[in-house]
Amino acid sequence: MREQLQRIAGEAMAMINEVQDMKALEELRVLFLGKKGKLTGILKGMGALSAEERPVVGQIANDVRNKLEDEISRIKGKLARKIREEKMKRETLDVSIPGTVIPRGRKHPLTLVLDEMKEVFLGMGYDIAEGPEVELDYYNFEALNIPKNHPARDEQDSFYINDKVVLRSQTSPVQVRVMEQKKPPIKIICPGRVYRSDAVDATHSPVFNQIEGLVVDKGITMGDLIGTLQIFAKSLFGENTKIRLRPHHFQFTEPSAEVDVSCWACGGKGCRVCKNEGWIEILGAGMVHPKVLENCGIDPKIYNGFAFGIGLERTAMGRFNIDDLRLFYENDMRFLKQF
Ligand code: PHE
Repeated sequence: MREQLQRIAGEAMAMINEVQDMKALEELRVLFLGKKGKLTGILKGMGALSAEERPVVGQIANDVRNKLEDEISRIKGKLARKIREEKMKRETLDVSIPGTVIPRGRKHPLTLVLDEMKEVFLGMGYDIAEGPEVELDYYNFEALNIPKNHPARDEQDSFYINDKVVLRSQTSPVQVRVMEQKKPPIKIICPGRVYRSDAVDATHSPVFNQIEGLVVDKGITMGDLIGTLQIFAKSLFGENTKIRLRPHHFQFTEPSAEVDVSCWACGGKGCRVCKNEGWIEILGAGMVHPKVLENCGIDPKIYNGFAFGIGLERTAMGRFNIDDLRLFYENDMRFLKQF
C-alpha cells in the first residue's frame, strides 16, 4: 500500500507540474483528491491493514495529500499570475507609438467669404432662406416678370431639363418662393449655386454662386437699399470702400441698378485689377417691381421693397485678391492651403 501511495504521489506530482490551465488543474485535483479520487480510493482500503500498520500508512497518506494540496495551490498561483500577465500584456497601451495623423481640413475661401457675408446680414436682422437649384421656369423667369420669348431670357440662357424645368440661372426665384409663403415684413438673404451656359474663363463659370437679398415692408426706399449695400461693402472690403450705382434694367426691379465697389486693389485710382476703371461691378439691385409683388399675392399699393443679387465669386476674388475664378473650383491644395 505504501508503494501504491508513493506511486500515486509521483504520478500526481508529474501531472500537476505539466498542467497549463486552471480547468485541467481542477480536473487533476478531483482525479486524485476528490471523493472518488485515487488517493481516497486507497484510504478506503486501509481497513484491511493490521493495527500497527494503519497509523503508519495513515500518516504517509496524509503527507501525500498535504504535498499534493500544496503543489496544486502553488501551481494555481503560478497559473493565476500567468493569466494576469497575459491580460496586462494584451491591455498595455504604448503611449509612445506615434498616432495616425489626421490631416486637418479648412474652410474653402468661398465658404469663408459666404460666412462673413452671412454675419453682416444676420447682424442687420436678415433671415437665411433656401430654394431649389433645379427650378421651375415659372419661378426662375415668369413670376419675375420675364415672360416666354422675352429677350431678357437670352442674358441668362440656362440649362433646360424640359419646357417647364431649368437649372436656376439666378437666386431671384427664391424671392418669389419666400413671398408666396410669408407676408411682409420680409428680410431674407438666400445664398446658392446658379447655372448659365457661359464658357469658362478667368471671370466666368457655368456654375457659380449668388447671394440674393430681399426686403419687403411698408415705406421702403432706395435710400434703405443704398445704406444696406454700403454697410455690406465696407464690412467686406474695408471702411474706405465706396459704392456706385449705375442705372440698369432688370425685369423684376424698377428702378434697377448695377452696383460697383471702389477697387479693392487701388482704392479707386485705377489699376490692372479694375482695368483702370477704379470700380468693380459686384451686384445687381433695385426696387421690387410691383408686378412681382402682385404675382406673389402682396399688394403693391401697401408694400414695397428692394432686392439685390451679389456674386459670391466676385466678392471672394476681391476679398482675397484672387485674379482667376477657376482657382476656386480646381481644388489645388497649394491654393486652398493659403486660407
Ligand atoms: N438676379 C440678377 C442677376 O442674376 C441680380 C439681381 C437680383 C438684380 C436682385 C436685381 C435684384 O443678374
